[in-house]
Amino acid sequence: MSVAQDIRPDLIGAARAVRENAHAPYSGFRVGAAILAGSGAIYRGCNVENAAYPEGTCAEAGALAAMVAAGERVIAAVAVIADSPDPVPPCGGCRQKLAEFAGGDVPVTLATTAGASRVVLLGDLLPGAFRSLHLGRP
Ligand code: THU
Repeated sequence: MSVAQDIRPDLIGAARAVRENAHAPYSGFRVGAAILAGSGAIYRGCNVENAAYPEGTCAEAGALAAMVAAGERVIAAVAVIADSPDPVPPCGGCRQKLAEFAGGDVPVTLATTAGASRVVLLGDLLPGAFRSLHLGRP
């Protein structure tokens, strides 16, 4: 689902800026992510690859860690950007990570460095998410 009115240029700008710090010498694919938290603060992350390839981390995971480290637990919106032919979506693992702190109605802006963007809802990226309620937790 596309929700064009939810495009947040400030969030895309934050993701674009932090992408410059990505450590992606193996894939050459630099990614930036920004999370708008419940307080209104924006948290940023970039992908950090490793010579031991599976130890690399995604941009979204970095932004999420920064948000949680700051004491926040609510995601209001997300933006992800890369030099991709098509606006880049979060990988499957990051969809699950985001769903820990975001409902299905949270807008996720997918963007390219060339300026294309579109907004999808997290619930459309990860329908039927496994959540704490499935563990019998609030
Ligand atoms: N990557 C992200 O940072 N976020 C995504 O959602 C997709 C993939 C990174 C991981 C790896 O460093 C590079 O992009 C190529 O997969």
